[in-house]
Amino acid sequence: MPTILIKTPDEIESMRATCRLAAQTLKMIEPYVQPGVTTQKINDLCHEFILDNHAKPSPLNYRGFPKSICTSINQQVCHGIPGSRVLNSGDILNIDVTTYLNGFHGDTNKTFHVGIPSPKGLRITEIAKKCLEVGIRAVRPKGFFGDIGAAIETLALKHKCSVVREYCGHGIGRDFHEEPAVLHYGVAGTGAGLKPGMIFTIEPMINLGRAEIRLLPDKWTVVTKDHSLSAQFEHTILVTPTGFEVLTDLDGEYIH
Ligand code: MF3
Ligand code: CO
Ligand code: CO
Repeated sequence: MPTILIKTPDEIESMRATCRLAAQTLKMIEPYVQPGVTTQKINDLCHEFILDNHAKPSPLNYRGFPKSICTSINQQVCHGIPGSRVLNSGDILNIDVTTYLNGFHGDTNKTFHVGIPSPKGLRITEIAKKCLEVGIRAVRPKGFFGDIGAAIETLALKHKCSVVREYCGHGIGRDFHEEPAVLHYGVAGTGAGLKPGMIFTIEPMINLGRAEIRLLPDKWTVVTKDHSLSAQFEHTILVTPTGFEVLTDLDGEYIH
C-alpha cells in the first residue's frame, strides 16, 4: 500500500509558490526557443532565472543528472541532457523544469515548436497536449488514479498514437518524486482513490509510432525505439474538494 500524502493548507500554499515559479520559468524561456540556439544556452538561462528567484533547479545532481533542466528533442522521449546540440527549424523541443523553493518541488514541462512546425510535429504535440488535458479533467475527489490513465490512453489510441509505459507521473512535495506512480494508461475505477489534498504530476509521453523506448549510452536520454516523434506536457495538480487545481497553470487554461 503506497502512502500518498495529504498536504496541509500551509504545504499547499508553498506548493502554489514553487509551481508558479516553475511555470514562470517555462514562460520566460519561450522566446529563446529559436533555430540556432543550443540546449545548453536554454539550460543556462533557466538556471539563472531559478536562482534569481531564490530557488534551486531540482534536476541538478539529482541521481547524478548533470544539468538544471531536461531538454528532449524530436524522437527523444524524456530526460534529454542539455548540451551543444543546436536547434533547427521544424524540431520539437520539450523543456522540463522542476524548481525547489522553500522546501517544496514544482514540476512542469511543455513541448515547443522551433521555427516553422512540421506537420508531424504539429500533430504529435497537439495530441500530447490533449492527452494531458483529458487526464487533468479526470481528477476529482472520490475518483481513482486509474481514471486518469484510462482517459489518456483512450485518447492516444483513438489518434493511433501510443503511450510510453516505463515513465509515469508522480506524487510531489517535499520530495521530487513521491508516491504514487501516476500511470498514463490503465482502467477507470482502479488504483488508489483520489482525495482532496493529494498533489501529483500528470505527464504523458505520447509517441507518433510505437510505444517502445530505448535508453541512450549517456544513461539518461530516453528515445523511441522506432525513431518516431514523441511529445510530452506536464502539470502539477492538486485534488480539491470540488475537483482539481492545476498549480503550474499560469494562464488559467484549466479553470474548472
Ligand atoms: N522532471 C522530470 C519529471 O517530470 C524528472 C527529471 S529527473 C532528471 O519527473 F534527473 F532527469 F532531471
Ligand atoms: Co514530473
Ligand atoms: Co518534470
